[in-house]
Amino acid sequence: MFSFFCAKPANKLTVNGGRHIATCEPEETLLSAALRCDIAISHSCRVGSCASCKCKLIKGEVKELTDSAYVLSQEELEQGYILACQSVPKSDVEIDVILGEVTAQLAVKECSGVITAQQKLTHDITHLTISLNESMNYTSGQYAELRIPALSSAFRAYSFAAPSGGNQVEFFIREVSGGELSPLVHSRNLLITPVEMHGPFGDFYLRESDAPIVCVAGGSGLAPIKALLQQALKEGVTRDVVFYFGARTQQDLYCTDTILALAKQWQGRFTYIPVLSQEPDDSPWSGQRGLVTDALSQGLTGAEHAYLCGPPNMIDAAIEVLKTHCVQSANIHFDKFISKADLVAA
Ligand code: FES
Repeated sequence: MFSFFCAKPANKLTVNGGRHIATCEPEETLLSAALRCDIAISHSCRVGSCASCKCKLIKGEVKELTDSAYVLSQEELEQGYILACQSVPKSDVEIDVILGEVTAQLAVKECSGVITAQQKLTHDITHLTISLNESMNYTSGQYAELRIPALSSAFRAYSFAAPSGGNQVEFFIREVSGGELSPLVHSRNLLITPVEMHGPFGDFYLRESDAPIVCVAGGSGLAPIKALLQQALKEGVTRDVVFYFGARTQQDLYCTDTILALAKQWQGRFTYIPVLSQEPDDSPWSGQRGLVTDALSQGLTGAEHAYLCGPPNMIDAAIEVLKTHCVQSANIHFDKFISKADLVAA
């Protein structure tokens, strides 16, 4: 019998010039189809927030489940990059997959532990220290996915806030309004609470070079920047560093003593510049005011290698400034922090 409700056809997925072929069932994402057919596309969050699964669309059309503009740069979007976990094919599709350099080197593992310290750093950022049952090796700048079963069944991605070393790991967790996990982390006493973790993930880490480093962080984006600079200090890196931290008011500043101590021990020049965008005019603050990206534009030569971490709008603006000052795209590394709640609200 004729039916108006014909089943949608499956679409063919061609990966890396035909080296791998998969079939996408109707409404199946590129990532799901690839993994089902044993094509190992790097991935992590599966909800469009980490960019681990980014790939370049060579041919065909996809429907995007969430707006990838939050985690991809404008340049990547213009070049045709999409998120495999958020793209459902509307036709046969060909993609080139970008494999994460570090993700490929360090095996992802699952482990468990307990929270051994909990400290409020600001009105909305909590510092958690976790003692794991076994050590986890990672490169400073990377992140792990964390679950606290007593609070939620959800895994959430957080950057390591200190260099890799033994069984202890640290995270800075920003309270996200409407979030499933972070408001509870902020409000409950979690000492000795069990956690589950898997990782490491991500390709945000300090690349080897002699070039001067410029870092821009906002909010809890300070965590991976601090970790990678602390790691670099341990390794005797002597490159000049300018570190901009963008915050609204003085009450959003944290880890200042730690960063100033780092600057003191650093073997090259190290300048730390906190920039406040909403500090009251009549406050005694004598540091920089305005947008962190405006401050950034004042001292660039174009020779810098940039490391950016924080909210997507801050990162997009910083990338624009860097490019305007001739910093090459290949030397701009970033990690956009976007929460599941942000994605839902978008
Ligand atoms: S796995 Fe696709 S964005 Fe995280």
